[in-house]
Amino acid sequence: MKVLLNSGFSDVPVPSPYDVEDVFNFHKTLPGYAPTPLIFLNQAARALGVESILVKDEGKRFGLKAFKALGASYAVFCLLRERSGGILTPDEFLTEKGRQLSEDVTFSCATDGNHGRAVAWIARLLGRPAVIFMPQGSVPARIEAIESEGAEVIVVEGGYDEAVRCAAAGGECGKHLVIADTGYPGYMNIPRYIQLGYLTLFREVSLQLRDQGERSPDLVFLQAGVGAFASSAALFFSDPSRDPRLISVEPIAVDCLFRSAEAGDGQPHSIESAGQTIMAGLNCETPSHTAWPLIRDRFNAFVSIEDHYAAEAMQRLAVEGVVAGESGAAGLAALIALRKGKPEFLKEKLRVNHTTRILVINTEADTDPDGYYRIVGKTADEVEGIT
Ligand SMILES: Cc1ncc(COP(=O)(O)O)c(C=O)c1O
Repeated sequence: MKVLLNSGFSDVPVPSPYDVEDVFNFHKTLPGYAPTPLIFLNQAARALGVESILVKDEGKRFGLKAFKALGASYAVFCLLRERSGGILTPDEFLTEKGRQLSEDVTFSCATDGNHGRAVAWIARLLGRPAVIFMPQGSVPARIEAIESEGAEVIVVEGGYDEAVRCAAAGGECGKHLVIADTGYPGYMNIPRYIQLGYLTLFREVSLQLRDQGERSPDLVFLQAGVGAFASSAALFFSDPSRDPRLISVEPIAVDCLFRSAEAGDGQPHSIESAGQTIMAGLNCETPSHTAWPLIRDRFNAFVSIEDHYAAEAMQRLAVEGVVAGESGAAGLAALIALRKGKPEFLKEKLRVNHTTRILVINTEADTDPDGYYRIVGKTADEVEGIT
């Protein structure tokens, strides 16, 4: 495990209340929308010596087992709204109006699984085709989940960056409309919409805490692949003097944000070759250019963890009835890793003690059911008591 304290904060753009409400109001119109549960992990909090650990369970989002549909759906809505000259309303998105605005479109993206399923889902709701590019070695269950939304899946010869290149090529020649969650020079708008889309999750947390009479967390762990998800936390919790401390979590084999922070030149850096990790959703070699500056300027620390911590966190979450996949459990895994490997860092630099309230986000459920069973020894249904 590795940790790095991030010293410099500069200006993090604050999303306007309009942005947050625009995103939230849009999601509320989608079929199957419901706030995902916010659950207290009482046993883990006792074992790890903190006041409370809350987990926001995104495994329950839209029945898709991951949070990603929040970003993909909002990005597609923003694009169609632009096409309509700014007049398409959220209520009209999945009606004839939205369908007409997208009638020439084939949607596309690169994915480790979850984002691709989200893009395929929104394409299906609009009645449009989708072509999804996945890295070599993708788990069959994740490929099938995307195909079950009616999309075509193409497995490329290479890692995630290669899948991104293949998807981009289809976009450049005008064949596809690429809904990529990673920004690079010349392709920044759509990833920004996706980052905004994730704000709903944090908005729900703030409402749920308010309704339960609970105060805000002191510390939030955010697992990162290209960093789009983590950057949305930087936007939502934009004031470091008032808002929780933010910690980025990556697999130690593929920690492009950690390495970028370590380089200290303010630039995003790619990792030479893809390492192996069970945290497939976090297996990304290059930080998103739209996400990196927000993370660099707002996050308090970067943590890189070994896979066995993710497995331990999945088991601990299962004991408390939460089905978390490998990437989903990464936030709790980082807390476990710090408690075991760097307790002084946790106490002195991150100021964690028995009065600290921690928020983690379970970003996926058992998206690879076989892998889940191998690690937890139970199926998702057994964990949730629906045997
Ligand atoms: C389950 C899960 N968690 C977290 C992430 C990280 O999101 P990002 O790539 O935006 O950093 C992903 C990305 O695919 C994911 O699938």
